[in-house]
Amino acid sequence: MEKFKLNNAQTIPAVGFGVFLIPNNGPTYEATLAALKAGYRHIDTAAAYMNETDVGKAIKDSGIDRNEIFITSKLWLQDYGYENAKKGIANSLKALDTDYIDLYLLHQPYGDYLGAWKALEEAVAEGKIKSIGISNVTVNSWNKFKDGMTIMPVVNQVEFNPFTQQKELRKVMAENDIRLEAWYPLGHGNKDLLENEIIVSLARKYNKNAGQIILRWIYQEGVISLPKSTNLERMRGNIDIFDFELTDEEMKAIEALDTGKPTHDPDNQINEKRLMEMKIHN
Ligand code: A2P
Repeated sequence: MEKFKLNNAQTIPAVGFGVFLIPNNGPTYEATLAALKAGYRHIDTAAAYMNETDVGKAIKDSGIDRNEIFITSKLWLQDYGYENAKKGIANSLKALDTDYIDLYLLHQPYGDYLGAWKALEEAVAEGKIKSIGISNVTVNSWNKFKDGMTIMPVVNQVEFNPFTQQKELRKVMAENDIRLEAWYPLGHGNKDLLENEIIVSLARKYNKNAGQIILRWIYQEGVISLPKSTNLERMRGNIDIFDFELTDEEMKAIEALDTGKPTHDPDNQINEKRLMEMKIHN
């Protein structure tokens, strides 16, 4: 699996397996185990997905050395603030049944963000977390929080695919050497994207499927992608993207598909209120 370098000299597998919306107590266990068997070495979960325990079990049962697998998890808003965040980190370590987490993100850009960030920075110093990052951070929220951070985030995980290219945000993140990670890399199965004429014609040319063309484009853009699939063939296919290369012209043709609009706007106060009210534990 090809890797990218992060701004703290750690490396990250370029494609990870995302387990958002896969239930715990079985389905996430099966999907994670299948993904590891298929060759994934990077699993992306979150406290709020409520399936960290299944991810942890699957990693243990896979028989693969822990240090060959890159685990990402995320702290939920309910656990923001310095003291709560320390507990949240401990809960993730316990649920994942591991001594360290490779990458831990602040899931959403609201609440006592910098208090939580301080706890993440301390966990790095203590060896409990190797790298820390942010998620759903917009240019606005970046400007609000950046000066209170001692350790720079290694990544910002945001909605990203050919229809949602986050051009302004990417520029600001690049200036700070923060790599983008793509959630909804396949537009969450959006047919308009997967059946787009340009994507489909490239799929025909390279003898790949539409998803593989999109994931290859994301890889060539230098962005980490986290595709989700519960279908074994597509799961395998989504990491079989390193044996062909899109030309500059083809990269540009896909770049022209940008609508400039995400489906989820973190700056929208209705989203902020809804997410701030979401509880994942007592
Ligand atoms: P399935 O689980 O049946 O494979 P995203 O990662 O952007 O959230 O997209 C996930 C959606 O895209 C799921 O509905 C998944 O369905 C579908 N999907 C995953 N891989 C591919 C692919 N290579 N081609 C088309 N659809 C895909």
